[in-house]
Amino acid sequence: MKARVFSGIQPTGQLHLGNYLGALKNWAEIQSHYESIFCIVDLHAVTAYQNPVELRSKIRETAALFIASGIHPKESSIIVQSDISGHAELAWMLTCVTPVGWLQRMTQFKVKAEKQETVGDGLLQYPVLMAADILLYNAGIVPVGEDQSQHLELTRDIAQRFNSLYGAGRDLFVVPATHLPLVGARIMGLDDPTQKMSKSAIGAHHAIALLDAPDVLRNKIMRATTDSHPAVDIEAMGPGIQNLFNIAQACDETVTKEQVAFMRYGDFKKFVVERVMARLAPIQAKYREVTEDPAYLDGVLREGAARVRPIAEETIRTTKRAMGLYTAE
Ligand code: AMP
Ligand code: TRP
Repeated sequence: MKARVFSGIQPTGQLHLGNYLGALKNWAEIQSHYESIFCIVDLHAVTAYQNPVELRSKIRETAALFIASGIHPKESSIIVQSDISGHAELAWMLTCVTPVGWLQRMTQFKVKAEKQETVGDGLLQYPVLMAADILLYNAGIVPVGEDQSQHLELTRDIAQRFNSLYGAGRDLFVVPATHLPLVGARIMGLDDPTQKMSKSAIGAHHAIALLDAPDVLRNKIMRATTDSHPAVDIEAMGPGIQNLFNIAQACDETVTKEQVAFMRYGDFKKFVVERVMARLAPIQAKYREVTEDPAYLDGVLREGAARVRPIAEETIRTTKRAMGLYTAE
């Protein structure tokens, strides 16, 4: 039997090169070795207010970008989180074994909570729901970017705590492993290479969206923050140059440091533009093809849900039984 893989992306903002190089590209590469489930985590998205009309269309856009990035719907299940009721149900059961101190310690919670006047309960619960996503399918491997490592550790802690409280000597839940990409686990913002590239950053030149037109992405890369050196010094790359190099190498694995040594920054950036464009062009073409046929996308999501629902239902049944909750005989 193949080990199971689970991962997810929030359908908010514009999916960007960090999402692709940190997550989607890795998913596409490993999918055939595993039984893979890739999820559009809309319940996570609503931990911050989302315009309902926009959210609905973002869910479809994200699903289409999964396929455009190389996820094969026949091979892997593409699902929407709120379509499978077990995610929210299991999250409640896990909430009840999770100390609130574990959640308050999460870096992402602290950063997001700081920016808000009132902190919604959902923001605190966010990593428990993420643990539920993974444990619902007993996924052994979770491919994510580096920023999710802490949430994965918490998932392991929750699984172990649940197993020891309710497992009666058995492991009810598989304790999952994190799978980071070799290159591209942490792509930084083009305008500020000390901040990770993120959907919520506001700068117009911060992130390269997967659907950016060629002239838009060229412009963003040409304006990316570097340092005051004139040419690439491969012994001592500053953070901006290092980030652009990582991007080029993650887009094209044949790229080496020697290839860019002593390149003047203008030429180096053109070199990066070419690698990024070559990566994104086929993804954008496939995206257009997929979105031309809404019925196809509906079918993919329906098929994915039908494939995984029995697994989710089985986990909910065994978890309820283990806790002594009611299940009809
Ligand atoms: P999110 O945009 O928060 O829904 O993230 C979805 C996936 O993309 C997760 O696996 C993240 O770890 C990954 N990811 C997000 N931003 C970056 C980044 N700047 N560099 C690498 N991976 C990222
Ligand atoms: N929290 C993740 C992020 O923002 C998305 C996510 C939700 C996820 N559930 C998951 C990732 C389960 C991996 C596994 O990037």
